[in-house]
Amino acid sequence: MPKLKIDGVEHDFENGTTLLQACEVAGAEVPRFCYHERLSIAGNCRMCLVEVKGTPKPQASCAMSVNDLRPGPNGEPPEVFTNTKQVKKAREGVMEFLLINHPLDCPICDQGGECDLQDQAMAYGISKNRYAENKRAVEDKYLGPLVKTEMTRCIQCTRCVRFTAEVGGVEELGATGRGEDMEITTYLDKAISSELQGNIIDLCPVGALTSAPYEFKARPWELRKTETIDAMDAVGSSIRVDARGREVMRILPRTHEDVNEEWISDKTRFVWDGLRAQRLDQPYIREFGKLRAASWKDAFARIAQKLKATKPERTAILLGDLVGAEEAFSLKQLATALGIESIDCRQDGTPLGEHGGRAGYLFNLWHKRDRGRGRHFAGRRQSAA
Ligand code: SF4
Ligand code: FES
Repeated sequence: MPKLKIDGVEHDFENGTTLLQACEVAGAEVPRFCYHERLSIAGNCRMCLVEVKGTPKPQASCAMSVNDLRPGPNGEPPEVFTNTKQVKKAREGVMEFLLINHPLDCPICDQGGECDLQDQAMAYGISKNRYAENKRAVEDKYLGPLVKTEMTRCIQCTRCVRFTAEVGGVEELGATGRGEDMEITTYLDKAISSELQGNIIDLCPVGALTSAPYEFKARPWELRKTETIDAMDAVGSSIRVDARGREVMRILPRTHEDVNEEWISDKTRFVWDGLRAQRLDQPYIREFGKLRAASWKDAFARIAQKLKATKPERTAILLGDLVGAEEAFSLKQLATALGIESIDCRQDGTPLGEHGGRAGYLFNLWHKRDRGRGRHFAGRRQSAA
């Protein structure tokens, strides 16, 4: 077990622990933007600089392991400092560089009040900037209706890129260009398809990626926070519902290591707008090719009448992609009771069965690849038949 002195106190650490993790274990706070414990290490923001005794330059603590450090000439454990003048100056320098291009639009930014950059600028930055040049401007990207972008605010930490590839399992985001021209993009200007894309809103340490349905709706300090469990799917994710008065304004994940870690699906995150907008509140019945408003009683009576008038073998049920597991199961039970055998929920032709396997419910690349393979096999089976 490697030994390390952090701010003068000796500790033992597991092999492979990063210096940043080691500092945290030792109780020393290290600021960071790009590092995230559930993502791979990028080491590109340089905010986590610490001083390592014997090295002339500050070191990025997230990208260096305790095993990388060598003992002193007499076998004494390597020493790391997080509170020296050199560290303070390094952090101030990094912050000053980050703020060269970051716009000063905190008053109109949805991240205001819960922004890592705001907080860390307060804690580790200086109160002025020596750069008077124009700030760079980056064109906003369209990522779909859920994630709003303001890419001029991006500090290129690449958390969103790593999340979509490593956790979401879809390589849809990436960076183009170098230096000042670097931009985070979907390359082809297309919306992200991942069902976990809302998590990049939480991951983005600045206001570059924010929630589109929550845009300009509320400030975090106005909201009453209620911790609860999500009932939108069978996962039972730990969530927090933020409300202003009686109105739910947003849903965020809570950490639960055994269930959802710190992620939630988009259905869970964005379901709240269905509490007051786009609700199915008025059934319609089609008569002579025209829709007429009806009561729920009339609508169900018409459904029952049609079902009774049609033989089960001439009836089919097709469920929408967004139907929950419970509703789908109830409908299947109804279909079985009525003797209806033609029931399907695969609007996109997803193959199920022996070749679907685990890929049938995974939301990632393997899912897509296996789906392709499933089709291939399905085609082969058909031609064999
Ligand atoms: S958009 Fe946000 S999460 Fe993505 S690289 Fe930029 S700052 Fe990081
Ligand atoms: S947190 Fe270490 S370089 Fe970004």
